[in-house]
Amino acid sequence: MTSPIRTEKHDNVLVIISDNPPVNALGQAVRAGLVAGIEEALSDDSVEAVIIRCDGRTFFAGADITEFGKPPQGPSLPDALDRLEASDKPVVAAIHGTALGGGCEVALACHYRVAVPSAKLGLPEVKLGLIPGAAGTQRLPRLVGAEAALPLVAIGNPIPAKKAKDIGLVDELVSEDALEADAIAFAKSKIGQPVPRSSEGNANQDGIKNPDIFDEFRAKNGRKMRGFDAPNAAIEAVKTAGEKSYEEGAKRERELFMQLMTGTQSKAMRHYFFAERAANKIDDVPADTPLIDIKKVGIIGAGTMGGGIAMNFLSAGIPVTILEMKQDALDRGTGVMRKNYENTAKRGRMTDEQVEGAMGSLTPTLDYGDLADCDLVIEAVYENMDVKKEVFTKLDEIVKDGAILASNTSYLDINEIASVTNRPGYVIGLHFFSPANVMKLLEVVRGEKTRDDVLATSMKLSKKIGKVAAVSGVCPGFIGNRMLSKRQEQANKLILEGANYWDVDDVLLEFGFPMGPFQMGDLAGIDIGWHRDPSKVTTVREALCAVGRFGQKAGKGFYDYDESRNRTPSDEVKQIISDFAEKEGTKQRDISKDEIRERLLYPMVNEGAKILDEGMAQRASDIDVVWINGYGWPLYTGGPMFWADTIGLDTVVAGLEKHDLPVSDYLRKKAEAGKTFN
Ligand code: 3HC
Repeated sequence: MTSPIRTEKHDNVLVIISDNPPVNALGQAVRAGLVAGIEEALSDDSVEAVIIRCDGRTFFAGADITEFGKPPQGPSLPDALDRLEASDKPVVAAIHGTALGGGCEVALACHYRVAVPSAKLGLPEVKLGLIPGAAGTQRLPRLVGAEAALPLVAIGNPIPAKKAKDIGLVDELVSEDALEADAIAFAKSKIGQPVPRSSEGNANQDGIKNPDIFDEFRAKNGRKMRGFDAPNAAIEAVKTAGEKSYEEGAKRERELFMQLMTGTQSKAMRHYFFAERAANKIDDVPADTPLIDIKKVGIIGAGTMGGGIAMNFLSAGIPVTILEMKQDALDRGTGVMRKNYENTAKRGRMTDEQVEGAMGSLTPTLDYGDLADCDLVIEAVYENMDVKKEVFTKLDEIVKDGAILASNTSYLDINEIASVTNRPGYVIGLHFFSPANVMKLLEVVRGEKTRDDVLATSMKLSKKIGKVAAVSGVCPGFIGNRMLSKRQEQANKLILEGANYWDVDDVLLEFGFPMGPFQMGDLAGIDIGWHRDPSKVTTVREALCAVGRFGQKAGKGFYDYDESRNRTPSDEVKQIISDFAEKEGTKQRDISKDEIRERLLYPMVNEGAKILDEGMAQRASDIDVVWINGYGWPLYTGGPMFWADTIGLDTVVAGLEKHDLPVSDYLRKKAEAGKTFN
């Protein structure tokens, strides 16, 4: 097999080049090639400096994740990098694309780093439930200081080359289209000087001067890090860099890395990494399906949902025409969008020009005719089949042939909606989640007649607007809401049977969800759909509305709220629930948190199994993608289906049976065969 690494000599500079598509992951052959390249440079007296660069779209994007969990094959990345750094001839990393994880560690082991302005650098290992494992946690703080290193290592978001230069991670920004030539010139200027080694640096003095920075960092990022093991290990490793020698620090890093690598969280998060990428692929749609060019998007409805959806396209540079029925609703909607953008700008995440650019590409209208030349129209109107049908009939008349007509419905039948048009092949469901400009998930609902190019275009577009897409077949509630309804059903039953509603919320919080169903109800307002007649009370929610407990906005809902929105359980509500149960003839009893957890989560897994059996999801991992991105299922468990695999499908079946809950044939057969979903 030919090596993915080759060398080229330019005068007295040896350029080591990696060509390992698609992302130059640092697999065994690349590591071996790097070591061979360095040895070639060291053994050739005519070589006085070395460049490391990559062909293709990016500098090394990290260790090869597909090798994780398999027996290690030398040379290891830490050993390869120690040998590289030990060189007394200057070694320069020439960076384009993304230098991530092990790729960033290669750059750190080099004596100098030059990068094109569009490059990004980062240590995203925490997003895989890991920490850097090739001394990144030791070299980075020694190079840039603990304070600058902490967010990079413990939060894992990459930074642009310019910021990397500001903190001292990059030495020089070079020309976008002359990376190699500029890197060679830079390397030549360093010949004859003593080489700076990151492992020998001591720029992490701030970690020692202010030992509180680690606790302060933990406190500031507590919410983001809640439940995750890796960020704490990352903080510990960076702290160690300030307290111990490089060798001791690297040893500690390795121990922490191995602990995390063999733990369940990293396994789950690596599952998710590949799940997200798999979800974008549709098994029976060829990868080379020609796409429809989406140059202009129409949105019907300028409410919270429509406005949020529009912002996705505007932010991605795609002009939007937004339609409302009345001028004041249109003005209100566009006003909210502007305000959202301005708030983003205030937080420094957008420039004023970007705000004006986005709003400048928005055309508000009251006239359906203005949607005629759109390539994609998404309706976000009231969830009612008759209303949707009316909208689609109109769109079919007005919008040009070949355009995609999409519904943002969260549970209605896309096939029925499509049937009122003369182009059902061009109709699709694009289910965004609220707030649509923030939430990552896009459930793409494939109707019976949806054409391949319409589906493929929707998947591609989802990536362009920064969403994570998963395909669902047509069934009530699709993947996400269909499973949610099973959880909600149990939550409602549990409180009638005597479980404390705050215990129900707590069980989900402890599991890792950001919120439980009753907190969520209070936040959204429990009077949604309230008929305002206190004499007609058929549910607990209606009973609460009847006494004015509308949720957080009223200062009381399921919980009582103080001025700072701190919640406390309410005796009044507990009484309302037990009165309601008595009226219904439901006997109340003490219910343990274990029972609550099993009854909330196992029926979801069972429903997921049915979704798979019916072919409504292509693969179990797509269901995981939906729940992690749309409903706050904790990433570190890998999603409902991966989690079920982890605890054992036989455990799930036994739990369902114990609580007299239905078990689907599909789930039972898998469990009996000792199989897993993923
Ligand atoms: N190892 C193996 N395969 C990888 C990979 C990696 N590190 N990174 C990406 N790939 C694969 C993807 O699975 C995908 O495969 P597919 O085409 O078969 O689905 C293909 O490369 C292209 O990836 P994307 O679809 O994600 O391409 P994008 O252009 O959208 O993104 C990227 C490119 C920003 C580099 C993104 O792939 C990415 O974030 N990769 C992971 C980076 C990372 O986490 N690195 C750290 C790894 S852990 C590590 O380095 C440990 C070390 O400290 C010892």
